Amino acid sequence: MRNKLDRFEWNEKYRLGFAEIDAQHQQLFATINELVRAVNSDLAAEHLTGIIEALLEYKNLHFKTEEKYFQEFRYEEAEEHIAKHAEFGFETRGAASQKRRGPGAAGL
Ligand SMILES: [Fe+2]
Repeated sequence: MRNKLDRFEWNEKYRLGFAEIDAQHQQLFATINELVRAVNSDLAAEHLTGIIEALLEYKNLHFKTEEKYFQEFRYEEAEEHIAKHAEFGFETRGAASQKRRGPGAAGL
């Protein structure tokens, strides 16, 4: 039997005390959990693609928001953090396009 991941739990230790960012992080958890639920219920690929695209769109909005505040507050580790965002963007774009092409598309 396959082991299923149920959900990602928001924890108060993740709270930064910056309302806009905390709300976005909580929304990201909610959208990721929506995706986990959809995967666990074996929904049609189009439905999963819709959720993944919504998640990627929200992730982009969130990264833009964070990067705006990095500049505004002259965050010392901004460059490193922005590079991590870019790396994550690259990985998620790869996963999304693989999902669109279907299983086995990665040639593994
Ligand atoms: Fe974040």
